[in-house]
Amino acid sequence: MGPVVVGSGTRVLVTGASRGIGESLAWAFAERGCTLGLVARSEQELAALAASLPGDGHQALPADVGDRESVGASVRRFGEVDVLVANAGIAYYQPFGDLPLERAEQMTRVNWLGTLYTVDAALPGMLDRRRGQVVVISSGAGFRAFPHASVYGATKAAQRAFAEALRHELCGSGVSVTAVFPGEIRSQLHAHERDGMPRWYRSEDAADPDELAKRVVDAVEHDRRAVHYPPIVRVLRVVHGISPRASDAMLRALRGRSAAPRS
Ligand SMILES: NC(=O)c1ccc[n+]([C@@H]2O[C@H](COP(=O)([O-])OP(=O)(O)OC[C@H]3O[C@@H](n4cnc5c(N)ncnc54)[C@H](OP(=O)(O)O)[C@@H]3O)[C@@H](O)[C@H]2O)c1
Repeated sequence: MGPVVVGSGTRVLVTGASRGIGESLAWAFAERGCTLGLVARSEQELAALAASLPGDGHQALPADVGDRESVGASVRRFGEVDVLVANAGIAYYQPFGDLPLERAEQMTRVNWLGTLYTVDAALPGMLDRRRGQVVVISSGAGFRAFPHASVYGATKAAQRAFAEALRHELCGSGVSVTAVFPGEIRSQLHAHERDGMPRWYRSEDAADPDELAKRVVDAVEHDRRAVHYPPIVRVLRVVHGISPRASDAMLRALRGRSAAPRS
């Protein structure tokens, strides 16, 4: 039993496929001959993407991942899944004291419970076929959360812990797990709030989602435990694991005081 072969006939379901990282992932897998199941709430965007991807048989599967029934129905409609990418996510950047609890609940529902519902719907079939790769799109914020993103970071840490344990738990089952830790990637994640964010969050040199997507495809083919992109995310992870004080100093040097105001 080796890693999933990425090629013609491989069935890949991506949540949050209507734009951003998810759309790049859909292109990267479709360009390798895979058949895509595209999940998000924006029906028209999904239909347009399904029609424009190379290859045949791609399906737009509109669903809200925060709704267990809705995402479950979409997974069932797609049928067999070889690669499952739990990518859908939202962010609200606000100090915790100002963050309405409804927004905190919404992030928890979409980012964390959405991941749980998506994996719960697809995993039994993968285990029956003894074949599959689960990909969880967490974040660098999953191991070092940022001020004004405490709840977002918590949802990403939950995904990280889930993916870590599940990878071990599924040992010998034919199904494996890859966790993905993006740094700042060009997308619409913060489009609704960009003006209120620190300068470094708005940086024009955010990394390329297509490059991230290529690395995810490579990670699936090689059953890698994790993807860190851009590479500085891995450095930060290692430094943070050894000394949070040192990673704070590093972040202050890279991004300014707002990334780590307390020394
Ligand atoms: N961009 C970054 O710098 C960065 C860094 C680290 C991690 N990430 C993670 O990468 C993932 C993708 O984000 P992105 O940057 O590509 O953001 P994006 O451009 O805003 O795309 C988010 C995607 O998630 C979908 N989505 C949101 N709520 C949903 C729901 N309730 N049900 C189904 N789909 C939903 C959106 O589609 P609809 O609105 O049509 O539903 C969209 O397709 C997220 O998990 C995010 O946390 C991003």
